[in-house]
Amino acid sequence: MGKLSVSILSADLAHLADQVKLVEPYADAIHVDVMDGHFAPPITFGGVLVRSLRPCTPLVLHGHLMVDAPESQFDALAQAGMDVVSFHIEAVEDPAPVIRKARDAGMRVGMTVSPPTPVEALFPYLEELDDVMVMSVYPGWAGQRFMPEALPKLEAVRAELDRRGLSPDVQIDGGVKLENARRCIEAGATVLIAASAIYQAEDPAAVARELKAIAEGRA
Ligand code: DX5
Ligand code: ZN
Repeated sequence: MGKLSVSILSADLAHLADQVKLVEPYADAIHVDVMDGHFAPPITFGGVLVRSLRPCTPLVLHGHLMVDAPESQFDALAQAGMDVVSFHIEAVEDPAPVIRKARDAGMRVGMTVSPPTPVEALFPYLEELDDVMVMSVYPGWAGQRFMPEALPKLEAVRAELDRRGLSPDVQIDGGVKLENARRCIEAGATVLIAASAIYQAEDPAAVARELKAIAEGRA
């Protein structure tokens, strides 16, 4: 069953708990974009925000770590209540100990590729991962345009997972809208991540409902 992960990067952060409640009936996870001003230019969220958000929702909290040395954040994020972290392969020299460190901290773990990185870079680690994330925009901001080059990457990772009989989540992150969501699912994504499509809409709950239906193959 496909899932919807709602990114709070476009939410009205002064009313974060309410913004999360709006989408809760349709979302499986809240996607928290952690950026450090180095790996990605902005500085966004971290353990301090997660600590406030944790008691507001029963949804899975998924950290997308667009930071250098992601492992340095794991303990703080886990203690704050993060359930899953996905780190960028471009941000680490050797992923294997980083994967282990996330698990030791008590979290599930995934890896992700920025647009210039081939998805095949993740293949040596697929057995160890709870999710694989393909980025369809450059790390940094919500509201960028979907890069269709991500679709063959989804197909490639889907084919490799099927070949090996593995079933981690396959997430697509960046520029996901009602117009392209179905193509992402057809290409092999199991999780749609969306920020601006939902929070810039007049009726965020209605868009979340539709995206969830597309993820589940009902629309
Ligand atoms: C971009 C972030 C994305 C972003 C998606 O660096 O990783 O998760 O929030 O925003 P939209 O859905 O607006 O492209
Ligand atoms: Zn993200």
